[in-house]
Amino acid sequence: MIAYLVTGGAGFIGSHLSDRLLAEGHRVLAVDDLSTGKIANLVEARSYGPEFTFFNMDLRSDGLLQLFERHQPEVVMHLGAQSGVRRSLDDPAFDASVNIMGLLNVMECSVKIGVRKLVYAASGGTIYGDARRLPAKESSAAGSRPGSPYGISKKVAVDYLEYYEKFRGIDFTALALANVYGPRQDPLGEAGVVSIFASKMLAGETPTIFGDGNQTRDYVFIDDAVHALALAADRGSGRLVNVGTGLETSVNGLYRMLAEIIGFAGQPASGPLPPGEVRRIALDVALASEVLGWHPWTHLIDGLSETVAYLKGV
Ligand SMILES: NC(=O)c1ccc[n+]([C@@H]2O[C@H](COP(=O)([O-])OP(=O)(O)OC[C@H]3O[C@@H](n4cnc5c(N)ncnc54)[C@H](O)[C@@H]3O)[C@@H](O)[C@H]2O)c1
Repeated sequence: MIAYLVTGGAGFIGSHLSDRLLAEGHRVLAVDDLSTGKIANLVEARSYGPEFTFFNMDLRSDGLLQLFERHQPEVVMHLGAQSGVRRSLDDPAFDASVNIMGLLNVMECSVKIGVRKLVYAASGGTIYGDARRLPAKESSAAGSRPGSPYGISKKVAVDYLEYYEKFRGIDFTALALANVYGPRQDPLGEAGVVSIFASKMLAGETPTIFGDGNQTRDYVFIDDAVHALALAADRGSGRLVNVGTGLETSVNGLYRMLAEIIGFAGQPASGPLPPGEVRRIALDVALASEVLGWHPWTHLIDGLSETVAYLKGV
């Protein structure tokens, strides 16, 4: 049994990760300020009783050190973040405050108590900017130009992790997660389009496609992303590792798949493309196979069907 500290533990990915670690018999300390996370995401985790503890706390607070000192986590899964591209465009300083200063607080606490490993949720959908070659390899992060403050903070975080590994002795793995989708997903998050389209179609409302709909994303199912995070607790030291499928899916294609699953016959509305979004992205996952022993497992159509079933309350 290992004591894990999961920051962002009440969020979409963090709550699923907490469930998984608890199911494996570990102890989980979840830290979250509930800014986008929800107590309702913790129903399963709370059923594990004293093995699960929730702290309503800001990552940036001084109190974080006391928590580390008292509970001595062995592994930190750092998922707590300002996770919206659009929010970062509106308020870059807030994004940096949570995503950079928050990370530094977590790193300093980790150094002080001698955490064995830190696993970081980086963003494969934004750190590479408009990558020259697709699927994007991890090496293309060198010299990339993220198109949003969120992409910049997620990219610079990896530089900080390398610094802390080299000079302060904290082992890390940074997973460049593709667009993660699935049950509990926040419509405002990175892969929010899945839950926005599906919720609208289920309510008989018209979803809006921004731009021409030919922009592409790499969609990875939540269970697969959680599996990669869990594996990274013991593998992939000192690396940035892509976690995606290598496949590009256009917004138009995603719309058609969801419409078919739901039986929605309506036509989409159209709107202007928001700034800060990349045109096309898919992630090369050869390194994840090599260093984590991880492969994407869930087909998009199956993951979307499960997400729709969740939204229907089935
Ligand atoms: N969902 C995706 O497609 C995706 C893709 C790539 C990377 N990521 C990264 O994965 C992580 C989890 O993303 P998610 O989709 O679950 O988003 P989320 O918004 O559901 O989770 C982030 C959590 O962090 C918490 N949080 C925010 N600010 C905080 C603070 N100051 N102190 C404490 N807690 C705070 C939020 O309340 C939330 O529960 C994030 O770091 C995100 O950048 C997500």
